Amino acid sequence: MPSSLPVMFIFIFTTACMRLATSEYYSFPPNFILGASTSSYQIEGAWNISDKAESIWDRFVHDNSGRIANNETGDIACDSYHKYKEDVAILKELGFDSYRFSVSWSRILPEGFAHYVSQDGLNYYNKLLDELLANNIKPLVTIYHWDHPQLIEDLGGWRNDRMVEWFADYARIVFRELGPKIKYFVTINEPSILATSGYGNGTKAPGIQDSGRGEYLATHNMLKAHARAYHIYQNEFKSTQNAVIGIVDVCQHSYTKDANDNTSSEVGFEFNCGWTFHPIFSKEGDYPKIFKEQIAEKSKLQGYPRSRLPNFSQEWITYIRGSADFLGLNHYTAHVVQPGSNAQVPSYEDDQNLVVSFRPEWKATSVSIFKIVPIGFGDTLRELAEAYNNPVIYVTENGVAPNEGLKDPTRIQFFHDYVRELLLAINRDGVNVKGYHIWSLLDSFEWTHGYGVKFGIIEVDFNDPMRKRTKKDSASWWKRVLSSRRLQPVDCD
Ligand SMILES: *[C@@H]1O[C@H](CO)[C@@H](O)[C@H](O)[C@H]1NC(C)=O
Ligand SMILES: *[C@@H]1O[C@H](CO)[C@@H](O)[C@H](O)[C@H]1NC(C)=O
Ligand SMILES: *[C@@H]1O[C@H](CO)[C@@H](O)[C@H](O)[C@H]1NC(C)=O
Ligand SMILES: *[C@@H]1O[C@H](CO)[C@@H](O)[C@H](O)[C@H]1NC(C)=O
Ligand SMILES: *[C@@H]1O[C@H](CO)[C@@H](O)[C@H](O)[C@H]1NC(C)=O
Repeated sequence: MPSSLPVMFIFIFTTACMRLATSEYYSFPPNFILGASTSSYQIEGAWNISDKAESIWDRFVHDNSGRIANNETGDIACDSYHKYKEDVAILKELGFDSYRFSVSWSRILPEGFAHYVSQDGLNYYNKLLDELLANNIKPLVTIYHWDHPQLIEDLGGWRNDRMVEWFADYARIVFRELGPKIKYFVTINEPSILATSGYGNGTKAPGIQDSGRGEYLATHNMLKAHARAYHIYQNEFKSTQNAVIGIVDVCQHSYTKDANDNTSSEVGFEFNCGWTFHPIFSKEGDYPKIFKEQIAEKSKLQGYPRSRLPNFSQEWITYIRGSADFLGLNHYTAHVVQPGSNAQVPSYEDDQNLVVSFRPEWKATSVSIFKIVPIGFGDTLRELAEAYNNPVIYVTENGVAPNEGLKDPTRIQFFHDYVRELLLAINRDGVNVKGYHIWSLLDSFEWTHGYGVKFGIIEVDFNDPMRKRTKKDSASWWKRVLSSRRLQPVDCD
């Protein structure tokens, strides 16, 4: 008899709704920004409209060499170039505060360089910005999300250090032409992934296979380019436009496989997150010490006369350090690490001296490298706060792609569990997160996965010439969260 009493009690009095309603931690702080994310190549389509030039992604997908699932392309994608008003109406209806999208270098500067600016390109982004502002939605604009003009790539792209100035010129045009409507800028999205897959193993555009060298050259130049854009903004635009400007990279916590292993977790952090964040957000600047030492040592053993990792001059270390108003975090999974290597030599993976795996109990998704680990999100936020003196963080992407259609309980559970970790990190642990953006608003062209991997809370019918948009259950869950400004249970309807 006594043993059944607590069960009754739970059944009658603490439904999920009530349990949440009483928790002190589960409200968003005042002025917290909740948004949804996309990127230009993944949604816009209109790849060859007006005077838009070919980007590295246009070239990569049209190559048809089996690098993209089903040879799919972003030629039309969600057709957001034509349907942006519908996208904004969805954001408005669901109640999002913010929309993170990216502008396309090849749409704005069809010849790559800043001598010729496309009026059509500017018109498109001006109309999108006006539509957002008219609906009271804050634009968070990524200046560069992986899609530079092919013409620039033909000159070496991110492996050419002239790219630093070419990017800076492009950023200046974006600030000058669109900046008056923007209060949140991201310079570059995920330099580490573009570097490792675009210039290391060549699995993404521009498809360069220069493993162990290309990754480091590309990141080196992206960090410099980011800092140039940041300083240009401070010197030429900040006083009139007053936006905040940051950089985004993907970062996840590394748990050690062996409980007695007291170094791998840190090595994992420095290779994964510190590589791009340490030069900007640490007190001393430059690449992390462990990162520099390990690559230098491996390079030496491999007979290279100097480290495959370029070094920054003291001037550049100082120029890059502190060059961000916020840290932009993209987050999808957690890692388990142990010493060792099974990767190609030389490569970024081999330089880490870590074998990355997952715990068997972590739930799989339709992307094999992303397992669902909510506590890993909290641990990542706390780790970043500790490493970099509690910087302002905007989560710029977080989401999941279950193999589900309009009924998507896995996605709702994912957002519930991840947002819960977010709120605990903020309200209980004091991590300075000021905004959170889901990935993604729409099902879209998911790079090499094509359209088969679906991250959207809105379904897009890619067989329909009109690219019909339909809300998934997770969109309704978000609508409840957005109107209450609190975490909502998964099943409160
Ligand atoms: C643009 O590309 C499409 C294929 O996606 C093609 O059918 C069309 O002819 C191209 N338009 C121009 C102006 O080149
Ligand atoms: C992709 O295109 C290539 C070249 O046209 C072709 O050989 C291959 O079979 C295509 N793959 C698929 C999945 O359609
Ligand atoms: C290429 O690099 C990316 C990023 O590090 C990694 O996720 C992917 O597994 C690599 N692919 C291959 C085939 O090595
Ligand atoms: C890490 O473990 C090794 C081997 O057990 C030990 O020698 C070393 O002192 C430990 N380092 C730290 C920082 O705890
Ligand atoms: C890189 O480091 C080497 C050795 O310390 C130094 O000689 C060189 O000047 C450095 N390069 C730059 C750009 O500072």
